[in-house]
Amino acid sequence: MANNLVRKFGDPVLRERCEPVTVFDGDLKRFAERMFSILKSANGVGLAAPQAGDTRRLFIIDLSGQDFDSEPIVFVNPVIEKVEGEQQGEEGCLSFPGLYLDVKRPEKVTVSFQDLDGKSHRIEATGLAARAILHENDHLDGILFIDHISAYDREMLAGRLKKLKVG
Ligand code: NI
Repeated sequence: MANNLVRKFGDPVLRERCEPVTVFDGDLKRFAERMFSILKSANGVGLAAPQAGDTRRLFIIDLSGQDFDSEPIVFVNPVIEKVEGEQQGEEGCLSFPGLYLDVKRPEKVTVSFQDLDGKSHRIEATGLAARAILHENDHLDGILFIDHISAYDREMLAGRLKKLKVG
């Protein structure tokens, strides 16, 4: 599966803090389309702008492969309003090919965001969708899933991370 369009661990853009989107124009829509095509070719469920080399505050989620009722969503300027509960589960990231980690996350999230036309929305998500939203939202602040594991576990992974790291 072609995943060479996704920025990988070690690329400094993945540690940038993204900037709010203020212009809802054709360029934003084209960028979101490009993100969906990258996500599809990488066979993933979520992608954040920095993983496509851009520092605007948006990410996309597409769980339609897991849940046929689910529509792909673009989250522009997302704000996590509320989290509840806890879930533990395996998580991957397209910027870390082949690495899967057990990550603890809230079970439920309430997130407000804008769509590509600047219209405001608020949704609640649970389970895998909540996990995906929180993972992608972290990317907009330069936070990666390896930041959620213990220092001990990270030490254990040091060799693998060094091999994965680009640049
Ligand atoms: Ni990721």
